[in-house]
Amino acid sequence: MSIAILDYGSQYTQLIARRVRELRVYCELFPWDAPGQDVLAIAPQGLILSGGPASVYENSAPFLPPYILESKLPLMGICYGMQLLVQELGGKVALSNQREYGLSEITASTGNPILPPGTHQVWMSHGDWVETLPSGFTSLAASSSCPIAAIGDSKRRIYGLQFHPEVQHTPGGLGMLQRFVVDICGAPADWTPQSIIQSAVKKIRQQAGRQNVLAAVSGGVDSSVAAALVHKALGAQLSAVFVDNGLLRQGERDQVEAALHARLGPELHVVDARQTFLSALHNINDPEQKRSIIGETFIRVFEAQAKKLGKPRFLVQGTIYPDVVESRAPERAQAQRIKTHHNVGGLPEHMDFELIEPLRYLFKDEVRAVGEALGLPEELVWRQPFPGPGLAVRCLGSVTEQRLTKLRAADSIFRQELIAAGLLNRHLHNGQGIAQAFAVLLPVRSVGVMGDQRTYQEAIALRAVTSQDFMTADWARLPQELLASAANRIVNEVAGVNRVVYDITSKPPATIEWE
Ligand code: XMP
Repeated sequence: MSIAILDYGSQYTQLIARRVRELRVYCELFPWDAPGQDVLAIAPQGLILSGGPASVYENSAPFLPPYILESKLPLMGICYGMQLLVQELGGKVALSNQREYGLSEITASTGNPILPPGTHQVWMSHGDWVETLPSGFTSLAASSSCPIAAIGDSKRRIYGLQFHPEVQHTPGGLGMLQRFVVDICGAPADWTPQSIIQSAVKKIRQQAGRQNVLAAVSGGVDSSVAAALVHKALGAQLSAVFVDNGLLRQGERDQVEAALHARLGPELHVVDARQTFLSALHNINDPEQKRSIIGETFIRVFEAQAKKLGKPRFLVQGTIYPDVVESRAPERAQAQRIKTHHNVGGLPEHMDFELIEPLRYLFKDEVRAVGEALGLPEELVWRQPFPGPGLAVRCLGSVTEQRLTKLRAADSIFRQELIAAGLLNRHLHNGQGIAQAFAVLLPVRSVGVMGDQRTYQEAIALRAVTSQDFMTADWARLPQELLASAANRIVNEVAGVNRVVYDITSKPPATIEWE
């Protein structure tokens, strides 16, 4: 009971899946050339063909695998997907005489099952268009520059949209997807946090049987929700390990411990490895070296703990759906290594465990909804991302207990000020509000004057960014009074800091973290 989405390479394909899930309908993404049996194995009630960058009439263009029409399932093609259907069914697609990128207004024909009558604002992005319709099809909408903007053959239940219903710039898009997915395909709208939990619990029990399972929890939302789900399924068969690497923020260990303990009880094992990490980082200033040392140390500490617990056969990983989809298309990943991100402060990909990945088919917002439904506290479910190497990459230069203490104090003041101003809460997540805010301790000293005394001390940089996906980010235009108050408090309350600066670079060209 689901919808299958075939990916023809559009930058919006994941968004189609997100939107269908917003309708509470389960769907999965497949590469366009995935074997038909894999796609049909999820028992789809309809298929959506995504957009894509190619032209359907090019020689090596991605095509329509035969099983799609043979399945007789309802189909919806979006942009490239629509053109593919048209070409395959005997219509004609050609280079349009007016390329269209951006907002456009279409007028829908009356009495069609996808578009309500009247005009709609839509997002177009195409160079080709449909010139001749295949037999059985009628045009469902037109714009001034695109006479065939939507098509349908109600008998065969095949539809096409030249524009993108999945993007925000098509305000009625969700309704159009709903008409296809729910009304035409008849897919049940039963993908709720409760049903996700139920099916995850069942699957975990099937996979693990009576065997013991190990989880590494970081206090981040993914690993916490994954562990909580496994705990719900297996209870005391789970051991969850939280490593205190000494690179956490003020009060973080207590907060994470309390939140997870409430859920996991005695199955939570907190390992105090602060000294091990600090000694390993002694005299290390280079960012990549810090990352690799922290990564290796984590694995050593974790393995020692696993041994103590009798080396369970299964390991829980908080892999989420975008990770799965993106790892299928390596050409889309950033080619150059800017920073070693993945698995730093996490586990290597190949360990001698079988993996349990209860979040493998969930988007981030679904992980949060499941976390809330499982009763995890709000500050955990809505926690901002925190890098695996922790404060080590915000403590520029050498990482010592003394410098970490300074950094923690400054960071905590900055966050307190943001909270007091109402700028760090869950409703401001998801692109509109501050995506991440923190302090960085700089290894430079500057001269100041405090109570007639000359000072020569280190500086703190404050960083706050807005971002949708953390691939790009802009610096947050924080109120000046807030910055003034945070700077004032930091210089007065944190010994050894006499200057505060605010970082006003976007990403790119800077990155969010300083190291
Ligand atoms: P940058 O600094 O590259 O960071 O703009 C983008 C996002 O990734 C987080 N980040 C990390 N996360 N391990 C992680 O798990 C890391 O080593 C790491 N480095 C950066 C960063 O906080 C931001 O959200």
